[in-house]
Amino acid sequence: MSLLVLLSAPFLAAALLQPAQTQAPTAPAAPATTQANPVKPTPESQAHAKKIWNYDCSMCHGEKGDGKGDVADQMKLTMRDYTKPDSLKDMTDGQIFDIIKNGKGQMPGEEGRAKPDDIWNLIILIHSMSKK
Ligand code: HEC
Repeated sequence: MSLLVLLSAPFLAAALLQPAQTQAPTAPAAPATTQANPVKPTPESQAHAKKIWNYDCSMCHGEKGDGKGDVADQMKLTMRDYTKPDSLKDMTDGQIFDIIKNGKGQMPGEEGRAKPDDIWNLIILIHSMSKK
């Protein structure tokens, strides 16, 4: 055994014995993103966002955003209710953008499917679900 291996062995062992880092469910979500929504919604862009919502999101989040989609029910997912005005109070639009783009937990991301403008429009759509 070379001297280098002998010297580094204790450090390697220590590194391997480190307990796996598990993320507590209460840990703050991802790096805070402060980017404001740059999109001005139009009736057309919102209609397009609604189409994406119906194809890619409503099976979990529910058509109205109440979190009662069939797939969420089958997978026993814990969903927020976007028809409640304070359901997304703790998240900035930038953080929401990250989640829709990259996915989170059981949710698949939209990256490669929806364009950034579509994602910003989805966020506007989601916020509008609590305003009736
Ligand atoms: C397979 C079911 C599923 C699909 C499909 C899905 N989501 Fe989610 N979504 C989830 C779950 C579960 C969470 C909570 C993730 C977590 O915090 O671990 C979530 C989280 C979110 C959040 C963050 C706020 C929150 O409710 O926790 C937003 C915003 C969101 N989803 C929007 C969307 C949009 C927009 C789409 C469609 C493009 C979509 N989701 C598709 C299951 C889904």
